[in-house]
Amino acid sequence: MEGIRGLLHSAKLIGPANSLRAVRFARRRDGVDRRLAPVPRTPRRTPGRLREARVTATGTVIDFEDARLEVRFPRAGQVSLGWDGALDEPSYAVLAEAATDLLDLPSPEPPSVKLLETDDGWRVIGPGITLEVTAAGAVTFLDDDGRVRRSDESPAWDGAGWTLRTRLTEDNTVHGLGGRAQWDLRGRRYSCWNTDPGGAWLPEDDPLYVTTPVYAVLDDHGAAHCLVDNPCPGTVDLTRDELVASFESGPLRIHVSVGSLPETLDAYTALTGRPTPPPRWALGYHQARWGYNSAHAVREVAQGFRDRGLPLSAMHVDIDHMERFRNFSFGEQGWADPAGLVDNLAADDVRLVVIVDAGLARDDSYPIYREAVAGNHLCRLPDRTGDDGPVLEGVVWPGRTVFPDFAHPAARRWWGEQLAFYTDLGVAGFWHDMNEPSCFAAWGDPTFPLAVRHRTDAGVVDHRKLHNVYGQQMCRASYDGLRRLQPDRRPFLFSRSGWAGSQRYGGHWSGDVETAWSALSGSLDQCLGFGISGVGYYGPDIGGFTGEPSPELFTRWFQLASFLPFFRTHCAWHLPRREPWEWGEEVLSHLRGALERRYRLLPFWYTLALENARTGAPYVRPIAWCDPSRRTESNAFLLGDDVLVAPVLEERARSITVRLPAGTWSHGETGERFSGRIDLAVGPSDTPWFVRAGAIIPTEDDGDLVLLVAPPDDETPPGGHLLTDAGDGWDEPHHERYRVAEADGALVVTREVIHQGDFPFGGVTAMTVGGGQVHVS
Ligand code: GLC
Repeated sequence: MEGIRGLLHSAKLIGPANSLRAVRFARRRDGVDRRLAPVPRTPRRTPGRLREARVTATGTVIDFEDARLEVRFPRAGQVSLGWDGALDEPSYAVLAEAATDLLDLPSPEPPSVKLLETDDGWRVIGPGITLEVTAAGAVTFLDDDGRVRRSDESPAWDGAGWTLRTRLTEDNTVHGLGGRAQWDLRGRRYSCWNTDPGGAWLPEDDPLYVTTPVYAVLDDHGAAHCLVDNPCPGTVDLTRDELVASFESGPLRIHVSVGSLPETLDAYTALTGRPTPPPRWALGYHQARWGYNSAHAVREVAQGFRDRGLPLSAMHVDIDHMERFRNFSFGEQGWADPAGLVDNLAADDVRLVVIVDAGLARDDSYPIYREAVAGNHLCRLPDRTGDDGPVLEGVVWPGRTVFPDFAHPAARRWWGEQLAFYTDLGVAGFWHDMNEPSCFAAWGDPTFPLAVRHRTDAGVVDHRKLHNVYGQQMCRASYDGLRRLQPDRRPFLFSRSGWAGSQRYGGHWSGDVETAWSALSGSLDQCLGFGISGVGYYGPDIGGFTGEPSPELFTRWFQLASFLPFFRTHCAWHLPRREPWEWGEEVLSHLRGALERRYRLLPFWYTLALENARTGAPYVRPIAWCDPSRRTESNAFLLGDDVLVAPVLEERARSITVRLPAGTWSHGETGERFSGRIDLAVGPSDTPWFVRAGAIIPTEDDGDLVLLVAPPDDETPPGGHLLTDAGDGWDEPHHERYRVAEADGALVVTREVIHQGDFPFGGVTAMTVGGGQVHVS
């Protein structure tokens, strides 16, 4: 949000005292950064002429006059290219380097690589992917059918930075780049610099909190997915018939996967780490608000759900729960017995989730601050000689604020231990905020001075090199801490900021999305784009964080979010209450419908979560997932492979047009069968959803598993599956597969157990989507 409106909005959110501090901070930051040494410059260069190429134990090395290209093949259909030793530099994205010490590392098999000389360079033939490298260093990527999947010009270095141009055809679409609120990214230039937009954003705003250089380029045949593994500041320019990635500094290395979109996400998450699936309860509904300012207020809201028979899985408490905005504390007033609150909520099967900010109050009376100082865990500015100088002081909610150096292994470990404060009380989940990192600054970039020194595992770097991974490393610290504290549980954690590989630690939410119809569809685009960037678990603040939605907008947002992985209402403290009953009986009945459907579909959601953890396939998939020719579409989406959701995204819509993918689809509520392009009337309680013919969707009713069957047609191979477990923990999930066939005029589902694990259901029944009879054998 820009200009006076933005300033006023921020002042309202942060208060007058912090607004004044924000002026002082911006002045200090500018002073510090004026002394910042420029990145050392080297003359502009290109690779020069190719000299020789040879096969190595892991791939190929190609030497040019002025540069060396190394090529490795992590798995079939995936290739890593690094210039001048870049593949051996530490990475925050790639699993082998960035793994938490608690994850199992895959041991790579040496690939079989062939090298052939061509008229103009070398052909490098690896498993599932071939590179044509020209004498000048341009690289063309081909799949096994000989199709060109990507084509890069030779790179150019200028000073400390570099530029890589990738050709785009007119009909290529481009998706991902972290949390952008736009599906097809072509036509704009994007910054890679994680940024807090200051309390509100609209789809046209860029950059936002997560700006990962991970994207997929689609055409009719599938995808070329790419991770530019460089956390330094950069841009991705898509304004012309090329994708121009330019970075101010840092390694030039890319990891490219080719194939179908599902195959490329499988390869990407194999490389950067599989998502940690949330515990089962986290797929239910979450109620949050900035402004639940006592345990009593939280209990009352939970009671409101119970009184009305509305399902609820988690209550979230914002910074209101803290004593003077101090992490790892509960307020002295109104929060006397947090463990009691946890118990009260647990009696209704509701969990407590707390916000944790990146910064710590600077106050000698705050023991955590004293410990952080004593342990030397805080970010520091340089002194006059460039060595460690004073601790960085910024401004966030507590006023004077200091920041753990999450780059530093000892600081991460110390931070992880602090979470025991909450886990000992029974807190079940963690909401990580202000970790772009964000500071209140009256002008300029609302983050640390660039001169801040970070002590990484591999030496000291300034903030330019670490900024984009600060939030991710905060999550890493918490995740590892939680694994140590509660080895039998999967950490539930979601974060405002992150970077490539953050899916290892948890999910993201929208941050402070503006209340607007355009932001409703923007939040769906953001979900789809996060999926391409490897992060499946995502949800927006229902109704928008900053404004007062009309009952209609709130209802439509709630309905959309009921079909997104992270289903949570949240907003700023100064806005009217938004619990489902605050909108009157009619709206409540629509919201109740969405809530009840969500809980019926929980076994399906859980299957999607566990599948996401196995293959990286996002829960929410673009239509392009099954039909690349429809790659520009984002107004409807797939949940898994077999459910299509067509949310109502327009104000006062009375009908919507849905283009169903190939085959017959049964309407999720009525069972009516459709195919092709349809116009559907939509009432205020409707969110049209459809099940592909022959598909079997696991649902539940009162503890029983209910297999929902869409009658097969001639085209689709019928079937479905279920992944489930005890709801948490690390045991291999129970896995069963279903087939449906017609016998004597009746539908019969056959179950086949692939892996016997924890099976939390009583009976197993089946019915058609429209409620017709189906037998189970
Ligand atoms: C940030 C978060 C928002 C939270 C607020 C107060 O603006 O994005 O979700 O409510 O801080 O903690």
